Amino acid sequence: MNITIQLLYLFSSVLFIIGIKMMNKTKDARAGNLLSSVGMLIAIIATLMQIEVISMVEIFICIIIGSLIGLYYAYKVEMTQIPEMVALFNGFGGLASVAVAISDYWLKSQITVANIDIIILVSIILSVFIGGITFTGSMVAFLKLNGRITGSPITFKGQHPLNLIMLISFILASVATWMNPSDINFMIILVLISLVLGILTVIPIGGADMPVVISLLNSYSGMAACTTGFILNNNVLIVAGALVGASGIILTQIMCKAMNRSLVNVLLGGFGQTVAGEQTEGPSIIVKEVGVEEAAMLFDGASSVIVVPGYGMAVAQAQHVIRELMEQCEKRNISFKFAIHPVAGRMPGHMNVLLAEANISYDKLIEMDEINNEFSNTDLVFIVGANDVVNPAAETNPQSPIFGMPILNAYKARTIIVSKRSMGKGYAGVENELFGYPNCLMLFGDAKQTIAKVVSEIKEL
Ligand code: TAP
Repeated sequence: MNITIQLLYLFSSVLFIIGIKMMNKTKDARAGNLLSSVGMLIAIIATLMQIEVISMVEIFICIIIGSLIGLYYAYKVEMTQIPEMVALFNGFGGLASVAVAISDYWLKSQITVANIDIIILVSIILSVFIGGITFTGSMVAFLKLNGRITGSPITFKGQHPLNLIMLISFILASVATWMNPSDINFMIILVLISLVLGILTVIPIGGADMPVVISLLNSYSGMAACTTGFILNNNVLIVAGALVGASGIILTQIMCKAMNRSLVNVLLGGFGQTVAGEQTEGPSIIVKEVGVEEAAMLFDGASSVIVVPGYGMAVAQAQHVIRELMEQCEKRNISFKFAIHPVAGRMPGHMNVLLAEANISYDKLIEMDEINNEFSNTDLVFIVGANDVVNPAAETNPQSPIFGMPILNAYKARTIIVSKRSMGKGYAGVENELFGYPNCLMLFGDAKQTIAKVVSEIKEL
């Protein structure tokens, strides 16, 4: 029996790894996701085969309740609420790790009063630490994202020293637990400190920076699951937790690099305090406006178009009208591509998901490094609700908070049309000098509405 279970665990671990590998390419990502889900199903079946304490009936009742809640929210959630949803999932993962750690500790220290193995005790303490921080940290991220608490950084004097004191107290309480494993009070202190630390480390972070923090918390939830795997002696949990932990860290690093931030800066907390919302004063930019008719003529006269989508496309839900625009252009043999910046929007892959939803094929979405050389040979760049990711100040102005962030070289195109509602700033809160460039024209208005008008004008031509 045991060997069968271990083999099933090994098989599901292999499926997880192949599934993640397949997510490397957009076209295989769905199949990769499905394969990993099959791996998870096998892991669940193998785990159910070794039930000891509770009955199958109780387990199935819980599975049905959990699945119904999951299904309801999966159908109800808006695309723009996905980061909040992921925050909740991470948080519950962390909470589950804390619950398992506490119950194992309770069993061994209070019920069987066995000598707790040092490896198990270290795993319990780590599970409580990482799981507790993940739980409350993710809840704060969730509340910030849905606006129930302020999205602005919440800071107070002595915040970092307080975090340090909490950390030292946690280490001291861990040593005390090791010396007196049966004294439940130390375990209670450990749980409380980790919960408070989760809140303290996430409140100073600006709401719009939450996607990076969520990716980091996702990694933490994986690490918490991994340590829980050691407590339960469950190999698949160790492997799956390690995979989530590692991939979350890699994603965090990719996002930090694309935003020109350091991971240490994120880990120390206070991330986003200096950049989000910061204003740079300077002379106002003088811009040239374009109307829908003129814009339609510019599209009609171009032989190559690159669309740069950004957060505003998500807000306006303009992806479907952009597909119509693409169809009209392609009918006229105009080359039509999309330039995807790694942090365009507010979550990893935000633009890819929205454009895929509008049935725009993956091969039209070109990554930044690949497309940056093409702008100088492009007739028309159409920027839809993007701002920071095309701001030349990232290359030209060392004083700018976004200096050093890699950008899409949209400014090199022959003509640029920018669809946005006003001269409103982007997430970094800085002016975009591109809007004043001689080759740049502003098409003001909600992206969905204005692009729909441009499309009907093109149809008339
Ligand atoms: P942003 O710089 O945030 O600019 C979005 C623009 O969309 C705004 O200037 C806004 O201008 C416009 N907009 C809003 N609603 C609109 C509507 N209905 N129709 C047309 N335009 C609309 O976006 P971006 O260029 O995609 O850059 C993303 C930023 O988010 C970067 O600074 C990045 O570092 C940051 N960030 C990204 C992530 C990830 S993982 N993607 C995570 C955290 C932070 P108006 O108000 O004038 O319309």
